[in-house]
Amino acid sequence: MKILITGGAGFIGSNFIFYMREQRPDDELLCLDKLTYAGNLATLESVMDKPGFRFIHADIADREAVYHIFEQEKPEIAVNFAAESHVDRSIENPSVFLQTNVMGTQVLLDACRKYGIKRYHQVSTDEVYGDLPLDRPDLFFTEATPLHTSSPYSASKASADLLCSAYHRTYGLPITISRCSNNYGPYQFPEKLIPLMIANALADKPLPVYGAGMNVRDWLYVEDHCAAIDLILQNGKCGEVYNIGGHNEMRNIDIVKTILAILGKTERLITYVADRKGHDMRYAIDPAFIHKELGWLPATKFEDGIRRTVQWYLDNRSWWENIVNGEYQTYYERMYANR
Ligand code: NAD
Ligand code: DAU
Repeated sequence: MKILITGGAGFIGSNFIFYMREQRPDDELLCLDKLTYAGNLATLESVMDKPGFRFIHADIADREAVYHIFEQEKPEIAVNFAAESHVDRSIENPSVFLQTNVMGTQVLLDACRKYGIKRYHQVSTDEVYGDLPLDRPDLFFTEATPLHTSSPYSASKASADLLCSAYHRTYGLPITISRCSNNYGPYQFPEKLIPLMIANALADKPLPVYGAGMNVRDWLYVEDHCAAIDLILQNGKCGEVYNIGGHNEMRNIDIVKTILAILGKTERLITYVADRKGHDMRYAIDPAFIHKELGWLPATKFEDGIRRTVQWYLDNRSWWENIVNGEYQTYYERMYANR
């Protein structure tokens, strides 16, 4: 199979490339990425010159470039990871989120219609369902939960999902959508909770916890997400939405304390800062459908995954120190200086 993977220089896309090269070495992988601040070619260093892999520098919202790629390469499957993915940045500046996440998705869908595709898979998020209250632990997001978004990021992802479903129903495009909970693991950009806290703790810098740190996220090791997408590509039904999550709900403050404990650092580094605007309280996925239909179950326990992740950041300091010491520093100061 020839698979086009958009956003493959980012966190989950790159892990998916590594996963597929292991599991399906005969597939030909084409990675299309704009290399925004979140895309990093250093991540793909180990595969860059290998047979069966090719990198193409392009923007999914650039219709001419995308059509040219489809015409030349004729991918059989497209998996769209490319997105602006950070909620805080979407609150600062929503425009690029609409441009990439909505218009970019439309360009990819149009290219699939024009040049043909066996499957288009949209990598979406549990954030499209909005949030759940803390005092109702019996409630979970199912595929039937109405879309009810909070941030410009989640609104853009929900819009893209609706476009995908519309292209399936109206034009019969063979589409699947997955909505996953929070991922963690190697190569995650250090603006996100877990790598940010690891990097700050290692530098003995304050650990900025939003609000009271009581918000709950449902954490999944990135490789388990990749395995679920692979299963959907193999056996998923067109037109279907699959929720992905491992019933691993944790409060932010407990995540931060776990990281400090693994690193042997003091909890005095924890600093409570102003809350995120519109901050979602709790995410919790019900993964019963993907388990029943496709047999998917997460393989990695959080206790193992978080230790492996912390160790990866210890072993790969140059990867994230280059980011933290570069242009990202300006963002960090703007976001956290007066919080
Ligand atoms: P990321 O920010 O780490 O990576 C995004 C990648 O997309 C980068 O390589 C970037 O250069 C590329 N990109 C951005 N705009 C582009 C454009 N216009 N054209 C081409 N490439 C572009 O994101 P991530 O955390 O790896 O998330 C990947 C996908 O998974 C996103 O669609 C996100 O919404 C979804 N998702 C993420 C999580 C999570 O916890 N991180 C959970 C569920 C779903
Ligand atoms: O649920 C899936 C989503 O998970 C994905 O769709 C998004 O792309 C991904 O970024 C992630 O969104 P979150 O907003 O949940 O992730 P983030 O790592 O930004 O924050 C996790 C929680 O930690 C959230 O409640 C906010 C809090 N937080 C975050 C940062 C960066 C802090 O308390 N302090 C921080 O400095």
